Amino acid sequence: MAASGSGNGFNLFDAEERVLAEAVTLCDRLGDADPGLRRGVETLAEAYRRSVREQRRLVKVSDRLQHQLASVNQELAKRKAEAEEALARLKEAQETLVQTEKLASLGALVGGVAHEINTPVGIALSCASHLADATIHMRKLFEADDIGVDDFERYMETAADTTQLILANCERAAALIRSFKQVAVDRTSSERRRFDLASYIGETLASLKPRIRQAGHQVRIDCPPGLMVDGYPGALSQVLTNFVMNSIVHGYDEDQSGQLSITVDEPGPGQVRLVYADDGRGIAEEHRTRIFDPFFTTRRGAGGTGLGLHIVYNLVTGPLEGQLSVDSETDRGTRFTLVFPRQASGGEPSLT
Ligand SMILES: Nc1ncnc2c1ncn2[C@@H]1O[C@H](COP(=O)(O)OP(=O)(O)OP(=O)(O)O)[C@@H](O)[C@H]1O
Ligand SMILES: [Mg+2]
Repeated sequence: MAASGSGNGFNLFDAEERVLAEAVTLCDRLGDADPGLRRGVETLAEAYRRSVREQRRLVKVSDRLQHQLASVNQELAKRKAEAEEALARLKEAQETLVQTEKLASLGALVGGVAHEINTPVGIALSCASHLADATIHMRKLFEADDIGVDDFERYMETAADTTQLILANCERAAALIRSFKQVAVDRTSSERRRFDLASYIGETLASLKPRIRQAGHQVRIDCPPGLMVDGYPGALSQVLTNFVMNSIVHGYDEDQSGQLSITVDEPGPGQVRLVYADDGRGIAEEHRTRIFDPFFTTRRGAGGTGLGLHIVYNLVTGPLEGQLSVDSETDRGTRFTLVFPRQASGGEPSLT
């Protein structure tokens, strides 16, 4: 067969037709001279004719198949375009969802902050008004030249108590506002640079040394020397500070000394894994899923705002572009694992 599937099988068999015509002519020329030879040639010609017919049929089948294949391809291309469009729409929807989610969590946060700040501000306000009333009363007594020693002593006591309460509550409100500012982590406001991870962890821990020593704990840092990271050191320092402060505040009893550790390795190319651990009392199971929620604290009223780990979570998943997980069991210590890229996205890559 000369060719197949060209779509115009018509001319494909010219040569074969010519051979067949020659066979017929040959038979005619043979006449009855040699019937045996003539029969042989006729049988051969017939077999050849059948083969040509079969070939024609095959070409037709092949043409039809090609045709079908082309339309299947066309259909596939259409479906692919549809799938790509659906994917693009899905991505858009996902982004909108993420934005909505961010807004919702910001709304919840603002609501929470307002609620949290309400208490100290309310207490300060009622203390101030109590002091104002007492002062008015004192002035009246003073103007009437009727102040007794008792009156004066009572007034001094009220003034001392209320001012102390006003101060403490204003301080608490100020601390809440400070934490809230930190929550709104803005990637552009924190400085991005290239830094040596081991040295930076060392520097951060050095600044926390007095608190750690005072609490009687030990720290072990195990980080490959010379490991360079291109990212946001300020964010990392805040994360570590929160971990350490939490261990000090929540991890141990007053007289208990513990072992804190920071271990760094590279789980894959371009990835950094930082494991922070203490060997303290751990986090109760029912609290473990809530520790990253804003305002979740087991020390409400004792200085805890419950924003620490929420800030940590925002910093890790925001500027550090990483993932954070916690592993803890009652009395078995607490371990936070952070995995983030050595090179933050955006900007010129500075690491080789
Ligand atoms: N190392 C730890 N050991 C035991 N419990 C912990 C530890 N770290 C965190 N927790 C628990 O997780 C809770 C939430 O921690 P988070 O840092 O968010 O808030 P906080 O420390 O209570 O308050 P803030 O950090 O805002 O002053 C803590 O109240 C505590 O119960
Ligand atoms: Mg904390």
